[in-house]
Amino acid sequence: MKIVVIGGSGLIGSKLVNTLRGRGHDALAASPSTGVNSITREGLAEAMDGADVVVDVANAPSWEDQAVLDFFQTSSRNLLAAEAAAGVRHHVALSIVGSERLPDTGYFRAKVAQEALIKASGMPYTIVRATQFSEFAGGIVQSFAVGEEIRASPALIQPIASDDVVAALVDVVLAAPVNGTVEVGGPETMPIDELARRYLRATQDNRKVVPDVHARYFGAVLDDQSLVTGEDARLGAIRFDDWLVRSTAQ
Ligand SMILES: NC(=O)c1ccc[n+]([C@@H]2O[C@H](COP(=O)([O-])OP(=O)(O)OC[C@H]3O[C@@H](n4cnc5c(N)ncnc54)[C@H](OP(=O)(O)O)[C@@H]3O)[C@@H](O)[C@H]2O)c1
Repeated sequence: MKIVVIGGSGLIGSKLVNTLRGRGHDALAASPSTGVNSITREGLAEAMDGADVVVDVANAPSWEDQAVLDFFQTSSRNLLAAEAAAGVRHHVALSIVGSERLPDTGYFRAKVAQEALIKASGMPYTIVRATQFSEFAGGIVQSFAVGEEIRASPALIQPIASDDVVAALVDVVLAAPVNGTVEVGGPETMPIDELARRYLRATQDNRKVVPDVHARYFGAVLDDQSLVTGEDARLGAIRFDDWLVRSTAQ
């Protein structure tokens, strides 16, 4: 099967391409660094030629509110048009659990807009919504830094290792479109301030963590449901502490 991975050089994309190739599929890593650009459309028609499935795991270079919205809307429109022209049979996109619950965050608004374009396109699709990647923990912790302290929300988070996200994506890519959304999350939830303490301990960072119910997550106030999966979600196998041990050893 020919599978085009848009964002195929990124964290998720590169692992997905390697896994699909290991299973004998013709997986194309498509991104600006390989001459395929979903914004300018450079190389897009050639990449789609003969493709069965397109997986969109691209990410915006800027997360500023308008820039990230423009990126996901323009990119999705260009991809869906090129896929229709090439007769692609399945569009798979990676989104984020709870995006519609956090409209105060520009990045989440952009993911909701991306999802809306896919649903309205008429292209057979599956949207995979994942919780926060364990690999993103450092960025999350730093986003709560105030001076020398980490003032983190105590709302629940459910970190998932990128390897578990990729395993879920592979199963979706190789199955028929569900024309709906599937959720995937980490195997456990924990308060964000607890995740921060574990992360700082593992990375030998002495900063103090203070729980703060008013602390905003990229602009949004959270509750215990904001970032966690619903009932039917697929759960990953890699616990956050095991991921920390593995990643700090590398
Ligand atoms: N971080 C999280 O916790 C989380 C949770 C759930 C879902 N997600 C979603 O997961 C997806 C993948 O994230 P990631 O962390 O794997 O991304 P990443 O490592 O930042 O990689 C981004 C990829 O997008 C590509 N790209 C950028 N501009 C492009 C363009 N104009 N055309 C085509 N490709 C372009 C990059 O290509 P070059 O290297 O060539 O520039 C790169 O391959 C994102 O859509 C994100 O919203 C993230």
